[in-house]
Amino acid sequence: MITNTKMISFQDHSGELGHLVAIEGNRDVPFEIKRVYYITGVPEHVTRGFHSHRKLEQVLLCLNGEVKIRVKTPQEEETVVLNDPSKGLFIGHMVWREMFDFTPGAVLMVLASEYYIEDDYIRDYGQYSAEANNFFKE
Ligand code: TYD
Repeated sequence: MITNTKMISFQDHSGELGHLVAIEGNRDVPFEIKRVYYITGVPEHVTRGFHSHRKLEQVLLCLNGEVKIRVKTPQEEETVVLNDPSKGLFIGHMVWREMFDFTPGAVLMVLASEYYIEDDYIRDYGQYSAEANNFFKE
């Protein structure tokens, strides 16, 4: 996985009655969950995202269907396929993300470490490259 990303597997309490997955902040994900949002009804061929965050950390889960997530730093790039509601993609600081190939009925749920703050977004790729090159230079 690229820098500042990882897959997290959650316990799936499954049986004849179906599946139940519980996610506890600071335990199953490495932050306190301050916000939850979900994305549904994305038409085929639409790509969303195209941004990074300076401070926000997130875990993305696809609760139904399938969606692809392209994650990038200036040095690395990877595409993660989410199609298992018991697996989440953690995205840490300063990772660029694009979400695409939503299947019909796909539900993408996001757990977030911060409230919504537009100033935390970097939406311009040139600005992102400049800040990220500095951030990842150790
Ligand atoms: P945005 O994060 O740009 O969506 P995506 O990256 O998936 O394309 O958000 C889309 C709109 O929703 C934008 O106008 C901001 C608003 N929004 C909120 O008001 N609160 C939130 O928690 C989020 C994630 C977005």
